[in-house]
Amino acid sequence: MKVAVMGYGTVGSGVAEVIETHEKSISNRTGGEVLEVARILDLRDFKGDPHEALFTKDFNDILNDDEIKVVAETMGGVNPAFDFTMKLLESGKSVVTSNKELVAQKGLELLQAAEKHGVNYLFEASVGGGIPIIRPMAQCLAANNIEGIAGILNGTTNFILTKMIEDGMTFEDALKLAQDNGFAEKDPTADIEGFDACRKVCILASLAFGKHVYPNQVKAEGITKITLEDVSYISSANGVIKLLGQIKKINDDKITAFVSPAVVFNGSQLASVNGVFNAILVRGDAVGDVCFYGQGAGKLPTASAVVADMVDCAVHVERRKNFGWGAGSEDYVADEKAVLEMPFYVRAKASENAVMSAFSDVKFLSRKGQPSDEVAFITDSMTENQLVKKLEGIDVINTIKVTNY
Ligand code: HSE
Repeated sequence: MKVAVMGYGTVGSGVAEVIETHEKSISNRTGGEVLEVARILDLRDFKGDPHEALFTKDFNDILNDDEIKVVAETMGGVNPAFDFTMKLLESGKSVVTSNKELVAQKGLELLQAAEKHGVNYLFEASVGGGIPIIRPMAQCLAANNIEGIAGILNGTTNFILTKMIEDGMTFEDALKLAQDNGFAEKDPTADIEGFDACRKVCILASLAFGKHVYPNQVKAEGITKITLEDVSYISSANGVIKLLGQIKKINDDKITAFVSPAVVFNGSQLASVNGVFNAILVRGDAVGDVCFYGQGAGKLPTASAVVADMVDCAVHVERRKNFGWGAGSEDYVADEKAVLEMPFYVRAKASENAVMSAFSDVKFLSRKGQPSDEVAFITDSMTENQLVKKLEGIDVINTIKVTNY
């Protein structure tokens, strides 16, 4: 079967490589059908690349080739990926993607178009890179009511936090190391401000609860305010700081979904997920907690998920896979600050007495070199709105949510 790749960056070149190096195992899984990369769309020149003869700068070369049945979209971004994907689906081609931004923004429209035209739009690689999570959630956990999800969904920030926790590196030095190692982009904003994790939260929430959740409905707080002082206090409480995407069902009409730094106590399956690795913990009412762990980014891990979707499309040419969700609504995602109760870590310029007069029950923390006018503590469970009220008049340096995953 002829296939095409749109976008020959890290993931797209990995897709071409995996299709070629795994020809035999792929054809075993398709019932003998070999995938053949017939066209690669990219505006750049790749002189001397082994696929040089396959490159085109004209999208119509793929759209109008009736022999191409499956296309991998690894371009990233919403435009022109949305327009291209829509046209391909409308012309009866299946599309698979690693593009989380596109699925988070336009997934509903593309899934509806795929359904209308009897083709597939699959997106296993859009969350957690090489980690199987979309199919397991849609199929293997189908007997469960999902209660909540918590995930380390961004490798760059997990690498930075790991370096701060394990090596005492500052945020700035750890970010530079991530850039030097090629994990973080030159402009690392989407990673460190939590926008990348936010898109993945949207996809997981849409899939888990059946209604589209858009990035503007999910608050994202990144890791730029985390300091070594916070790391040290939390370590004294046997915990670590992770950037978590958290999703929780409130009732049939409401969920919460947000990205923020969170205190995770050692003993949680998420606490030992270090470096660039990702993990997604799904809490189902029948299965309990299940945790999916692996490489959330990178050429071959992500390509492994993209190619698996292509294989699925090749096997299901006549039959649609039913991964999808319905329309969302403006008030579907509740303000977690008002409805979710949890403990909080607080660091402040204050005395223990001042803290005790505002809170009835706190656990004070300590660190090496702690100034005499600084306190850090973990509160009992309350909403963030209640916390803010109690902290009125206290000179707060930082607060971090404490997770129960
Ligand atoms: N920048 C992302 C990360 C790439 O660091 O996890 C994968 O989405």
